[in-house]
Amino acid sequence: MTMNLQAPGMSELKEQLDRLDLSRLPRHVAMIMDGNGRWAKARGLERSVGHYEGVKSVRRATELSSDLGIEFLTLYAFSTENWNRPQREVDILMHLIGMAIQQETPDLVKNNVHLRLIGDIERMPKEAWDRLHACEVATQHCDGLTLTLALSYSGRRELTRAARLIAEEVASGRLRTEDIDEQALASRLFTNGMPDPDLLIRTGGEERVSNYLLWQTAYSELYFTDVLWPDFDKPAYLDALIDYQRRERRFGKTGDQIKATTKS
Ligand code: FPP
Repeated sequence: MTMNLQAPGMSELKEQLDRLDLSRLPRHVAMIMDGNGRWAKARGLERSVGHYEGVKSVRRATELSSDLGIEFLTLYAFSTENWNRPQREVDILMHLIGMAIQQETPDLVKNNVHLRLIGDIERMPKEAWDRLHACEVATQHCDGLTLTLALSYSGRRELTRAARLIAEEVASGRLRTEDIDEQALASRLFTNGMPDPDLLIRTGGEERVSNYLLWQTAYSELYFTDVLWPDFDKPAYLDALIDYQRRERRFGKTGDQIKATTKS
């Protein structure tokens, strides 16, 4: 992956970039974008204004990930549970997501960003789906950052779906029960082919995973911040990356074992 530290705006981040070890960045960052509604309410505005403002944070997070050479950024844009919000808010969000993606498509192509979608995408209204699909097609040749949007997504549903696919394959004789291992399950998830997130960031002050990437975050570092999503700017993102690098990832091993393997 290529890093672009000369990109516009990067010099303002110099102090934080100096504290970041650019050789130890996460390959995959997942984000739960929370706090749009509260951001708007605090200003006496309608919740949807918070979502509009949140699109700017999506842009900033994408830009910084791409400039740093991070390979995967996966954003929780709409959960299965979000369908239960007031219809007006759902309609606005669907329209906004479709519009934003359509508007950003030329820039995504220019910056070599590949758009990928995960979730029960077929539940998306046609207008939004068409725009998202057009962007997927337009960026399919891009091999820089993979920006994945989780839309109508539920981790439990994703796992249930994988279990059903496996059951069907066993029933039809295409898969043997003894060949069902972790890889067999992982390859039937929407995220097939992607590395697991190294870092999961949740904005908005809540400290839970909310049915997001349940299988994939088994060993992810979790970072929670009170910053509301529309306020999540590049310095806030860099704070999370700096914090991540202070942690020792042990994957069940001892600290001494990890030190021995990183030395060799
Ligand atoms: C959670 O905040 C946010 C969402 C459910 C939607 C996130 C969507 C966007 C930021 C727009 C995405 C656009 C693109 C292009 C992907 P909340 O409404 O739950 O906030 P609250 O907890 O303060 O009520």
